[in-house]
Amino acid sequence: MLTNKNSEKAKLKLERSEKLYEEALTLVPGAVAGIRRPYNFVPGEYPIFFKSAKGGRVTDVDGNEYIDMLCAYGPIIIGHREKEIDDAVIAHIQNNGFCMSLTQEIQNQLASKLKSLIPSCEKAAFVKTGSDATSVAIRIARGFTERTKILRCGYHGWHDWCVEVKGGIPPKLYEDIFEFEYNNFAQVESLIKLHSKEVAAIIVTPVGHPLAHEVEMPKNNFLQNLKELAHKNGSLLIFDEIRSGFRVNLGGAQKEFSVTPDLSVFGKALANGYPISAVVGRAEVMDMLVSKVFLSSTFYPNSLEQVAALKTLEILERDKILDAIKEKGLRFALKVEKIITNSQIDCHFSGGPWMPFITFNQDDKKLYKKLRPAFYTHLIRSGVFLQPYHHGYIAYRHSDKDLDYTIEMIEEGLHNIKKLI
Ligand SMILES: Cc1ncc(COP(=O)(O)O)c(C=O)c1O
Repeated sequence: MLTNKNSEKAKLKLERSEKLYEEALTLVPGAVAGIRRPYNFVPGEYPIFFKSAKGGRVTDVDGNEYIDMLCAYGPIIIGHREKEIDDAVIAHIQNNGFCMSLTQEIQNQLASKLKSLIPSCEKAAFVKTGSDATSVAIRIARGFTERTKILRCGYHGWHDWCVEVKGGIPPKLYEDIFEFEYNNFAQVESLIKLHSKEVAAIIVTPVGHPLAHEVEMPKNNFLQNLKELAHKNGSLLIFDEIRSGFRVNLGGAQKEFSVTPDLSVFGKALANGYPISAVVGRAEVMDMLVSKVFLSSTFYPNSLEQVAALKTLEILERDKILDAIKEKGLRFALKVEKIITNSQIDCHFSGGPWMPFITFNQDDKKLYKKLRPAFYTHLIRSGVFLQPYHHGYIAYRHSDKDLDYTIEMIEEGLHNIKKLI
């Protein structure tokens, strides 16, 4: 219950962030990359540069500290600067090194670990980013089926076949790609009817998370239906588990929802922030990488991130981290849902226990355009780092106190913005 329901918060001091931003504009196109640009937050209210992070918190270059509810857009599953992981990485650098002309044996250990955890994994290939992994999966699927068309749902990265902003991409590179809405099975059925034997794969994020819209869980057997439809058509089913992997369940959302795809991709939380991603799947399909489909990059076999991934997975398993996150997340979700109902503001909580998101319903009077920035301004001024257009994440190092404080600030924020209605 709020003690002081009218507490307006003071604007943050952000001088150093702003100075660095001005400098960066002269050095780096757009100053900072993509989704980290100020217009994706509330310009003038959010910091632009962070200095450090530890556990569930981040500190900006002006010394303001925040509860980090964005978790670097997903990789931070345990917490920032986890000593056990960093120590394993440092020991590997000092004792072995990690960038060599041949592969180090830790590759096999990591592949074997993924095989033991992920239902769809008979073989695994390691790359670096989520975009790498989804693009490899698409290439494998096209090689395996000898078909070209792809049905897709969700954000799959920045590569030519899937990026939303089409500047710089010849149209022919995406004209065989067809988008469908999450949970809209009828739409997929009609796309399959239209393109049938030309469809190589259906790729879908097993949890629906369209930008700036509510996070959705599968409804009406959506994932299983996709699998049956794909297989009936001779197409492959690919799960893009870049966000859901090692967060929703140690075996991925595919284990949580009991639907095993042909191929799936993992990244983000796999190594608690170290850059590694994986494409996994049925051996017969993955073996396209032997016979037909080329995959190579100077840095892909580097072992540093493999060490971090193995250590992360060891901790996730040993300390039952995902159970703890689910428990924290459920408690958070229940409390926030209740606050939202009581607030009578036209907004919504989604994301279940893993990807909390408060979205404002897009009313005809466009009130949401005022409510959303005012609400997120309240949160950032209160030291809660969330993104207005992207769901957040719960990390293991978020203490109950952090989450209770965040809940309190959400309640306070919703109360304060009522005056705008
Ligand atoms: C579901 C999904 N797939 C793929 C990607 C691309 O990953 P990356 O940004 O590591 O290239 C993302 C990134 O947010 C993602 O959320």
